[in-house]
Amino acid sequence: MQSNSPSLNPLQRFLQQPNDSTSKTIGVALVLCLVCSVFVSAAAVLLKPLQTQNKLRDFKENILAVAGLEPIVASMGKDYAQLSLLDKFAFIETRIVDLRTGEYAPHIDPTQFDLQQTARDPQTSDVLSKAEDIAGIQRQPHYAPVYVVKTADQVHKVIIPIYGKGLWSTLYGFLSLRASDLRVEGISFYAHKETPGLGGEVDNPNWRAQFVGKSAYDADGVVRLALAKQSTGSELADLHYVDALSGATLTSRGVTQLLQFWLGEQGFAPFLRSQFGQSGT
Ligand SMILES: Cc1cc2nc3c(=O)[nH]c(=O)nc-3n(C[C@H](O)[C@H](O)[C@H](O)COP(=O)(O)O)c2cc1C
Repeated sequence: MQSNSPSLNPLQRFLQQPNDSTSKTIGVALVLCLVCSVFVSAAAVLLKPLQTQNKLRDFKENILAVAGLEPIVASMGKDYAQLSLLDKFAFIETRIVDLRTGEYAPHIDPTQFDLQQTARDPQTSDVLSKAEDIAGIQRQPHYAPVYVVKTADQVHKVIIPIYGKGLWSTLYGFLSLRASDLRVEGISFYAHKETPGLGGEVDNPNWRAQFVGKSAYDADGVVRLALAKQSTGSELADLHYVDALSGATLTSRGVTQLLQFWLGEQGFAPFLRSQFGQSGT
C-alpha cells in the first residue's frame, strides 16, 4: 500500500487518503478553520487603527452637530462647508470637569479620558441612591468632559454629554447650551436602541429643533427643561417644554429624566453655576 509507504511524509500520506475518509474530512475542516481564523484575526488587528479613527471622527461629528458653528464661522468671513473636521474642531476646547466641585480638573488629559470607563470604575465614580438615580445610570462619574465652543475673544457655548435609560436602551447624546444664558442651542443622540418611529423619533431633526431657544433653568436655578404632552400655552411651557414623543411615553420620560439629571446637582449644575453663573430666563 502506497499510503503506508515509509518514503512518504505525513502530509503526503494525509493527501493520499480518499476524500471521503473521516480523518481527511476533519483534517481539511481544521485547516480551513485555522486559515479563516488567522485571516479574521489579521483583519481585526490591521483594521483596528482605522476603526478607532472612524469612531473618533464619528464622535467629533456628533459634537459638531450641536455646536452650531456656522454663524460663528460666517462672522469671521469663512465658509463653514470648506473647513476640514480639524479646522472646525479648532473652535472647540475639550476640558474635563470634576462634577463634585464644578471646577475644571486640569490634571486629567482630555485626549485619554473615557467617560463610560470613568463611570464604571469604583475609584472614579459613586453609586447613586434610588432617589438620586433618576436617569437610571447607577453610578455618578466624578469627572466628565465638556466641549467649550470659543473664539479668541468669546466663549459662545458649552456642550455637555448626556445619557440615561429610555425604554429599551440607554440613550447617549450631547446638549449644547448658550454660554450667556444657558438656553439650549441643540441636542443630539448618537446611540440608542429605541424603536424607529416611536422612541427612535429622538433622532428626528424637526423634533430636535424644538429644543433650540428653550431655557434649561428657571430664574431660581431649578432645572425646568422637559418633554411634556402640553408644550405650549403657559409661560412655563413656552420657556422650557418640548413636545413629548407620541406613542413613546416611556422614552419621553427617560429623556426628561436624563436632562434633569445632567443639568442637576449630580450632573453639571455646579459647573454651570461656577463657570457661567447658572441662571434661568
Ligand atoms: C413593538 C413596540 C415598540 C415600542 N417601542 C417604544 C419605544 O421605543 N418607546 C416608548 O416609549 N414606547 C414604545 N412602545 C410603546 C410602549 O410599550 C408604551 O405603550 C408607550 O410608551 C405608551 O405611550 P403612549 O402613552 O404615548 O401611548 C412600543 C410598543 C411596541 C408594541
